[in-house]
Amino acid sequence: PRKIIVDTDPGQDDAAAIMLAFGSPDELEILGITAVAGNVPLSLTTRNVRIICELCGRIDVRIYAGADKPIARELVTAEHVHGKTGLDGPELDEPTMPLAEGHAVDFIIDTLKSEAPGTVTLCTLGPLTNVAMALQKAPEIAPRIRELVMMGGGFFEGGNITPAAEFNIYVDPEAADLVFKSGIPIVVMPLDLTHQLLTLKSRVERIREIGTRPAIAMVEMLEFFERFDVEKYGSDGGPLHDPSVIAYLLRPELFKGRECNVEIETKSALTMGMTVVDWWHVTDRKRNAKVMRHADADGFFALLTERFARI
Ligand code: BDR
Ligand code: CA
Repeated sequence: PRKIIVDTDPGQDDAAAIMLAFGSPDELEILGITAVAGNVPLSLTTRNVRIICELCGRIDVRIYAGADKPIARELVTAEHVHGKTGLDGPELDEPTMPLAEGHAVDFIIDTLKSEAPGTVTLCTLGPLTNVAMALQKAPEIAPRIRELVMMGGGFFEGGNITPAAEFNIYVDPEAADLVFKSGIPIVVMPLDLTHQLLTLKSRVERIREIGTRPAIAMVEMLEFFERFDVEKYGSDGGPLHDPSVIAYLLRPELFKGRECNVEIETKSALTMGMTVVDWWHVTDRKRNAKVMRHADADGFFALLTERFARI
């Protein structure tokens, strides 16, 4: 199986991504999960990762606490989408499993140095603070990373936290800037793609039919999560952003995109955190990322349901 580190700020859609990875042990080996401040503060994202692991019977997983705020800014959170705990929806027991000792940044560095070069993939589902701090502290890890697959950004689609910026990039634009300049092979799953992955009633029902405790808890999370888009935009469901990262590793053919240059705006107040994507190659700037734009949404939800049923 492919070795991955999941960096996350749960978040109901982060939870769905982690569950998708748990349901895919033949393809993915989770070396560890690193928590970062994002949707909610770090004290809650570390709690939420532990809840998800316990819910899925995975108390063997190593979970590390990472950065509690962005590199150069105050933390912006998203309780308006995810609720006060970040995992609002189901009734969930407080977790009892401990965090692993040490800082997430050191875990990322040590793992990349001890595993064979080019074998570890980073899956980022939140602000890029932990990865950027690892790159700052140990720049020599960059060429050892097989690939970094991230949920973040939005270009033709615009932003979801400001008109110009997507949440994960907006929260820590300096971190994103560092990552996009690092030379790591990057795959981006932006809002343009994730807004195609809607939690339609029929899709959620298929997950409910699995009938297990993790599946039912997931349905209750999704029903809470989708209300933001359904109520605010009259959408037919919520955009299930983060699992697209894991789905890409499992079934890349579900997604289509192109290699292009991506730069991050870190100066302008108006467009802070914007992902400036040179989709049409109008510059000769280096093509530093593969940006995905189209998804087979039915195929994606079929995969999700199949893998949730294995937990
Ligand atoms: C991203 O922001 C968070 O609210 C979600 O978990 C996702 O990672 C979407 O913009
Ligand atoms: Ca997230």
